[in-house]
Amino acid sequence: MKSLSVALLATAATFTISPALAAGNLNVICSADVVICEQLKGDFEASHDIKVNLVRLSSGESYAKIRAESRNPKTDIWWGGTGDPHLQAASEGLTLEYKSDKLGELNDWAQKQAESSGYKTVGIYAGALGWGYNTEIFKEKGYGEPTCWADLLKPELKGEIQVANPNSSGTAYTTLATLVQIMGEDKAFEFLKEMNNNVSQYTKSGSAPVKAAARGETGLGIVFQHDAVAQAASGFPIKTVAPCEGTGYEIGSMSLVKGAKNLDNAKIWYDWALTPEVQSRMKDAKSFQLPSNKSATIPPEAPKFEDIKLIDYDFKTYGDPAKRKALLERWDREIGAIAN
Ligand code: F6P
Repeated sequence: MKSLSVALLATAATFTISPALAAGNLNVICSADVVICEQLKGDFEASHDIKVNLVRLSSGESYAKIRAESRNPKTDIWWGGTGDPHLQAASEGLTLEYKSDKLGELNDWAQKQAESSGYKTVGIYAGALGWGYNTEIFKEKGYGEPTCWADLLKPELKGEIQVANPNSSGTAYTTLATLVQIMGEDKAFEFLKEMNNNVSQYTKSGSAPVKAAARGETGLGIVFQHDAVAQAASGFPIKTVAPCEGTGYEIGSMSLVKGAKNLDNAKIWYDWALTPEVQSRMKDAKSFQLPSNKSATIPPEAPKFEDIKLIDYDFKTYGDPAKRKALLERWDREIGAIAN
């Protein structure tokens, strides 16, 4: 283990060191991109005498793991991933109430996420849904620019779309809930059935579709817009789209697990992850979400919420256990069953 003094010297210039340094371990589930997950682990270990055991899982998978382990939790803190499954975990009593001293430093949307869950989760970032498409493939094949949800049904896009499975992925659940809110439930399922003709693969992770589009394996991936921007920032021919009919968004969240074996350390991570220093560094991992701390630097690449037609996403309804379960069961029956 790195000696504390070396760690402090190495990081004092860029980080506010938590006064509550503690030794030991911390078991983290991270539900965002693996690059930011690894960056957080490295930064945290460099400024604390705590060893982080990190698992990267998609949002829905993380929820399922925490639920399955609820009698004997193996996780202390769940960082990142879409808010809906965090809210579901909160209402099922799987996560712990905690009011960080940092709460007052957060944007209203992040504080609201905490309030509405009885302080069993909190907003750490926000991101709007959309897609990224490979401009070279679209040009070569002569496809029209896909600017609206309706464009995703064009027969010319057969086999060109990837989107994740909403059971594992929070991105895909946000897509499902967004379409239901825009069109009504029956129409949304009709839309998804028709779009299935164009979908080549339902991936496990939410950002995988646009990574495949970047590599030229598919034309278009339905993802959070910041994940499309990340591919463009890496030099791939990906154009980011904010759908013309409007779109939903996520409040990426963080929760302490009830029964956590390393609760004190989990609280140290929690407070640390809400600081502007930590949130401002997310862009270094090409994580271009909107940070929740008001003083964190917003990366210039972050999609501008004011330019996106956002729906008034109903987090309470779509983070409700019964609603989420019912929508996922219907997806399995009507879409999963006919998926290619
Ligand atoms: O890649 C980052 C990200 O889009 C986060 O903004 C989001 O919370 C998470 O991934 C969702 O991942 P998944 O769809 O795999 O649950």
